[in-house]
Amino acid sequence: MSLNRMLGRATEMFNRCFGHEPRWVAAAPGRVNLIGEHTDYNDGFVLPMAIDRHIVIAADTNPGRQVTLHSVTTGETASFGIRPKVEPGEPGWSNYIRGVIAGFPKTRKPLASFDAVIDSTLPYGGGLASSAALEVAAATLLEAMSGKVLDPIDKALLCQQAEHDFANVPCGIMDQFTSILAQENHALLLDCRSRTTTPVPMTDPAVTVLIINTNIRHKLAESEYAIRRSRCEAAARALKVPALRDATLPALEAARGQLDPLTFRRAHHVITENERTLEAAKAIQAADWDAVGRLMYASHASLRDDYQVSCPELDTIVEIARGIGKAGGVIGCRMTGAGFGGCAVSLVRTDAVQRITRKLDEAYERKTGRQTTIFYSRPAAGARVLKSS
Ligand code: GLA
Repeated sequence: MSLNRMLGRATEMFNRCFGHEPRWVAAAPGRVNLIGEHTDYNDGFVLPMAIDRHIVIAADTNPGRQVTLHSVTTGETASFGIRPKVEPGEPGWSNYIRGVIAGFPKTRKPLASFDAVIDSTLPYGGGLASSAALEVAAATLLEAMSGKVLDPIDKALLCQQAEHDFANVPCGIMDQFTSILAQENHALLLDCRSRTTTPVPMTDPAVTVLIINTNIRHKLAESEYAIRRSRCEAAARALKVPALRDATLPALEAARGQLDPLTFRRAHHVITENERTLEAAKAIQAADWDAVGRLMYASHASLRDDYQVSCPELDTIVEIARGIGKAGGVIGCRMTGAGFGGCAVSLVRTDAVQRITRKLDEAYERKTGRQTTIFYSRPAAGARVLKSS
């Protein structure tokens, strides 16, 4: 669905809920990460792109003391006060917005209470950064409402903090940065230490980005994420480097005796994934699709075996894609996002999209008894205000 249609739909829903037109509408995209997984919180490199799936918030101030949020997707409504301060609460999704309101810098005129409708074309919990998109859409809305435009990096950090404090997920910065800074027709090579971004053109019409949703989310996802992160920090301490970004494979090998085997494997993933990400960015620029494909499969194997954040359903998709292979038009495939379910990403030849989609659909159902959802996306632009009056 185009952003224009989303604007129309959110406006209509707002009208239905609150009886008048919204004054502001903001949108933020989800993302798919092409490569560079679980490297962002190790000060490393990631190569995501925003996708043409968005969260849209339509809003207007109200004269009362409560913020009221209505989610079109879940049908739930959240109501809460913002003074003296915003507290976490139910329903769970409202925390991403509560956190952004809580952290939004104070302006001379205090933030007014408001009514909002939230609409989405992003699968929730599908590993496509729906929570970051919700935070970024909220921050973009608050910028428009308050007239205070934030520096994009400060805005991303504010959204990340909201997720840490209000959703208890110690995420890195990839998702929020992408949702804010993405450029149309480009992936974004992000150095998560210096926070500099290099746009990588993705304009070859012969290549399409497919997103394949396993339609499952394993419960372990959030607790295991935090465990992975702290083990990486332990590995960096043992290797006497500020972050795993600074570690090398020879240094890791030399320290093998001092590290327990699991810590060794986690660090091995991060070190090799950083190398793969830099190589992949170069290979995309050189249109060396064979190399990109090899790096994607290697990334998946490392996430499955060393980092252990894949799951049988994701492995099945990657194996089906690999089976279709270069001859059938598949360039490469890997899990994307935090893992334990969610989506895989595959680069495929555009002229084979239909055939590949059909094969993936059929084989996934045959092997797992489940249905997959597949869509493709060009690299989309970052968050923006769709209406401000
Ligand atoms: C989630 C987090 C990101 C990143 C990925 C894994 O999407 O929000 O910060 O760590 O997992 O690469």
